[in-house]
Amino acid sequence: MDTNTKLRTRSREYFARAQQYLVEGVNSPSRGAAVYSPGPIALERGRGSHLWDVDGNEYVDFMMSFGALIHGHAHPRIVEVVSKSIAEGSHFAAATPAETEAAERFRRMVPSAEVVRFANTGSEATMLALRLARAHTGRTKFLKFEGHYHGWYDPYCLNGHSHPIEQLGPPENPAKIPDSEGIPPSVFDDVIIAPWNDLPTLKSILRREGRDLAAIITEPIMANMGCIPPRDGYLQAVCDLAHHYGALFILDEVVTGFRYAPGGCQQLFHLTPDLCTFGKALGAGFPIGAVAGPRAILDRMRWSEHMVLHYGTFNGHRLTMNVVAANLDLLSGEGVHRRLFATGDPAIAGLRDVFRKRKIAAIVQGFGPMFQIYFTARDAIYDYRDYCQYVDTKKYSRFVHHLLDHGIYMTPSNGLHWIISTVHSEPDVRRLIEAADQACAELS
Ligand SMILES: Cc1ncc(COP(=O)(O)O)c(C=O)c1O
Repeated sequence: MDTNTKLRTRSREYFARAQQYLVEGVNSPSRGAAVYSPGPIALERGRGSHLWDVDGNEYVDFMMSFGALIHGHAHPRIVEVVSKSIAEGSHFAAATPAETEAAERFRRMVPSAEVVRFANTGSEATMLALRLARAHTGRTKFLKFEGHYHGWYDPYCLNGHSHPIEQLGPPENPAKIPDSEGIPPSVFDDVIIAPWNDLPTLKSILRREGRDLAAIITEPIMANMGCIPPRDGYLQAVCDLAHHYGALFILDEVVTGFRYAPGGCQQLFHLTPDLCTFGKALGAGFPIGAVAGPRAILDRMRWSEHMVLHYGTFNGHRLTMNVVAANLDLLSGEGVHRRLFATGDPAIAGLRDVFRKRKIAAIVQGFGPMFQIYFTARDAIYDYRDYCQYVDTKKYSRFVHHLLDHGIYMTPSNGLHWIISTVHSEPDVRRLIEAADQACAELS
């Protein structure tokens, strides 16, 4: 494998062309020149854990489509299912055996899923979960944590980006900072913000606001400020508090679902959320979202004068449902999740070793299939405010740009996280450690 991938002439040419018709030359701001310098790398094909760009450079991929590719690129079983499905007719927008097959497997794997509704993205799933929670409780407000991302639906788009600590306001009453223009400020009147991983502060906020809340929504592992695990017992305490105030506990497993355990973090941490949302790994590279929970809540979508509306031409897309069923079969295989940990944990340990030997102040947070590197003098990053104050995100970006030059594909954005798929191998991990060592030597 070529370890020097510096020449990206054709990538630059594509970027120049793309900018003529696509905003920033891409279809999501996290993929453009604001993140990748001097511009994005145009990728052409992937196989297993490896990727190739248009200039023929090869990379080991640790971004894995932001976690969607749980089995890597072009997994033979997924290719087979897609080829067959597409030849038979990809979608009918009608009842199919495929959605039954997918739902039965989903139900078997996700402990709290009495029933499931499939949508097309994680954002659609979290939108629907909030609508269901509001309908079920008859309340409008909900609580979201600082630094958590639940998709780009208006009410979730605040306090999701990093800001200087002076702008954040007191923890007991955080300033509401929109992540986007174009959202009426009144939308945020119904959103209560709290710091995460901080039970005393949450309790004090709930004493003030709890009785008006339809839901508390949380990621089980904070995955959009890198990778921040919950403190021991924290998630169960949040769930208990939500119930104490008559609110639903929504666990957003769009990132963690099917990754940390067959049944996601609810299984890993023994939680029973009222609603849970999924996406990414559920679709093994195809667009998917899902909301699951008890029939008593999801049945509110049944056709009636008072139903919770959830339409969608592409809901239960036949081809995707076949992929989901095949994917869940693969994920139910013996030892699959054990292997994800057996690959991820040595990668984490190896990176820690590199930073220690190179005397670089950096920590690696997370475990098993997902982790993040923080350039910081702190021993741990516990929440959004730590991230905003103590993490050198610019240094991380420089580090990842060096890694890209050494054949490791990852986004330079510190807010994302490293992903281990079922097809990453020991040589991939060794390659990462070697490249990280070289990148450390090059860090100024
Ligand atoms: C925790 C979480 N929830 C929801 C979403 C939205 O998912 P999608 O990008 O599929 O709309 C994301 C996306 O990164 C996420 O990380």
